[in-house]
Amino acid sequence: MLIIYEGFIKGAHAADGGNSTMSILTFRKTDFIPDNAAQQKIVIAVDGPAASGKGTLAKKMAERLGYAHLDSGALYRAVAMTALEIGADCNLFSDVEPALKIVLRNLTPELLSCPDLRTPEVSEAASKVSAIPQVRDALLKHQRDFAHNLPAYVGGVVIDGRDIGTVVCPDADIKFFVTASVEERARRRYLELQSEKKEASFVKVLEDLKARDHRDTTRKVAPLVAAEDAYILDTTTLSPSQTLDETISVIRSRFLSDSAEYPAKASQKAV
Ligand code: C5P
Repeated sequence: MLIIYEGFIKGAHAADGGNSTMSILTFRKTDFIPDNAAQQKIVIAVDGPAASGKGTLAKKMAERLGYAHLDSGALYRAVAMTALEIGADCNLFSDVEPALKIVLRNLTPELLSCPDLRTPEVSEAASKVSAIPQVRDALLKHQRDFAHNLPAYVGGVVIDGRDIGTVVCPDADIKFFVTASVEERARRRYLELQSEKKEASFVKVLEDLKARDHRDTTRKVAPLVAAEDAYILDTTTLSPSQTLDETISVIRSRFLSDSAEYPAKASQKAV
């Protein structure tokens, strides 16, 4: 049996005094949540490389299901942006530590949705600070606290990042690994920058993405890799709405039966 929820309002999360990124207060009509959702919160992990569309997908999925959403990349970006502001070397924990402390004291929805987090400089710096084990440890705690302290009226949470299905929530109910060819990801990022009237060269965007992929997949701690039980979604030829529909149909088949389709598409392929 399925439960239909209605209503969708943005707001702050009360579990940590309103200091987190939780953005769901009530639910929006359209989809379903299994009827045990009130007792057992559903955790959906969405991992994938930079510019794969996982962030947009996770946000839309959360809206559609009436779940909370956490963009874990924004946490690393916030540390990186603050580190740049104080002139830190983003490869050194001793330099980045003060920025980490500032961010952990100030994890507001405003900070995590700040457009300045999305500049190419912050993207590159985020990929560097995220390779520092102490930074990962501190942010891991925040992510788990978020996932385990959902308000009673929220049926679950969608968290997107690089290591959600492998490290942050290895017991997630459903794991997606969203990917696309690096050229297609660069094309999307390039068009995005153009639409924001930002100067960009396609070749530079492609090079930056390759460098970030390399750093994310080869770092010692929590490298970007698909969980063994993840559903691999290659979005190279899919539009955002087709991608969302595909994930919703996977979620449906997952909850409605032990469909052979899930996780039949999973493989070890990372990027
Ligand atoms: O997802 P997004 O591109 O916003 O993430 C910014 C950076 O943060 C990534 O390049 C990645 O290095 C890092 N990150 C991470 N683990 C996560 C989320 C993001 O290492 N769970």
